Amino acid sequence: MKFWKSWPLAHRTALLFALVACVVMTSLGMYLYSAARQALEMRADYTLIGRVEHFRNLFHDLYDVKQMEERPALFESMLGNEQDVRIFRHIGEAPFIHVNPGNMTPPPMEPVEIGMPLTPNALHEGVRPDGVRVRWVSALAEVGERNDKVEIIAAYVMTQESKVLSNYLLRVIVAVALTVVLTTVLGFAILKRGLMPLQTMGNQAGEITPANLSARLLREDAPPELRQLADAFNAMLDRLEAGFQHLSQFSADLAHEIRTPVNILMGQTQVTLGQERRTEEYEQVLESNLEELTRLSRIIENILFLANTDHASLAVERVDIPLADELGKVSDYFEGIAEERELHFEREASGTSYANLVMWRRAVNNLVINAVRYGKPGTAIKLYAGTEAQGSIVVVENQCDFISQEHLDSMFNRFYRGDKSRNEFTESNGLGLSIVRAIMGLHGGSASVSYSVQQGTISFRLHFPASA
Ligand SMILES: Nc1ncnc2c1ncn2[C@@H]1O[C@H](COP(=O)(O)OP(=O)(O)O)[C@@H](O)[C@H]1O
Ligand SMILES: [Mg+2]
Repeated sequence: MKFWKSWPLAHRTALLFALVACVVMTSLGMYLYSAARQALEMRADYTLIGRVEHFRNLFHDLYDVKQMEERPALFESMLGNEQDVRIFRHIGEAPFIHVNPGNMTPPPMEPVEIGMPLTPNALHEGVRPDGVRVRWVSALAEVGERNDKVEIIAAYVMTQESKVLSNYLLRVIVAVALTVVLTTVLGFAILKRGLMPLQTMGNQAGEITPANLSARLLREDAPPELRQLADAFNAMLDRLEAGFQHLSQFSADLAHEIRTPVNILMGQTQVTLGQERRTEEYEQVLESNLEELTRLSRIIENILFLANTDHASLAVERVDIPLADELGKVSDYFEGIAEERELHFEREASGTSYANLVMWRRAVNNLVINAVRYGKPGTAIKLYAGTEAQGSIVVVENQCDFISQEHLDSMFNRFYRGDKSRNEFTESNGLGLSIVRAIMGLHGGSASVSYSVQQGTISFRLHFPASA
């Protein structure tokens, strides 16, 4: 079986093809041969019947048997080939004409009565010692007007026919063998050609490397049967390419993000070490370094969290979260910072969310921090939480300048930051919303954002699915 599986497809199929051809051609040959044999046998039978009937008529027209007995040579050489048997005799007597070159013994037969026509049913089967088919018949004939009865025993030996038949059989065998060989060879050649697109496809696929991930299999070159495969393969390449780009973008961004604080740290440290300083100066530098290090460690922690959520196998342990309570805690916590920016909270909450408490808090906190950071001073931040038909939602809404759909679309991307936030807030690292989205993904829920031009508000919606 293993051997069979390691065989090339073309060889396998050609072999099966040959087997089918062999079976079909052999059956056909056998059928043709037996049809020819039947036809010849039938012809032989009717020849024998015709001959005996001929003798019967001849006897009837004769004057008496004497005439016949006097001219045996006439009957001996009359009709038939040299192998055939003709025995004429009065019933119960020794034959007066006896032509039996093979010296065959007739089988016991009941002669066909006078006036009864001969039919193939009256024939008796026989075989010559060398296997050639023989047909026997015995019939009574009336001689002249005198009601003299003569028994005719005749046999037809299929010498000629069996020669013809064995010749025919040989030809059939040769034809079958040739056909089988020919179909095998042609089938193999055709298959080889037919499977060429597969090879081409394999070659094309073999040339795709990380350096040219955008290359695709040419679907137009492929026959319809392989198009599905080409499409599936191309779709897989699409996903791989997207994942690959995502990864390399991510590592580029990551390096970029980390470079700035590390450079600052190095610069400050080098400058400080350049000359002897007072203790306060060292303290100042260390404090500043600590700030940068904190920032770095926050980035690292966030990245680790995102990396973990990428392996979505993380099982989240969920509880029913009382929304009014939790949202109250969040707004209380951020009230101080909000006031600094002249912002205030408006809150409306009821019902429960079925979610992991730590993650729920982290997601909502990230949204509220953003609202506090980017909300227009002097306006309200609206917090809403409640149950819905298919679970629960949390909405965080604040006023801000117009944001185009393009920016809204990329907000959830890792390291995405609006231009302003880049300069204004050192804590900003562009990971907050991607963490929100990752958390919602872990919960089987969704996070979305929309901007209302009339109200000048941006609102973030988290949808948590109901308990299963
Ligand atoms: N509530 C909001 N109002 C206005 N802009 C926002 C709001 N939340 C997020 N953004 C924009 O989306 C960007 C990405 O947000 P986020 O992923 O939390 O990163 P970060 O807050 O660290 O910049 C922000 O830099 C900001 O430009
Ligand atoms: Mg943020």
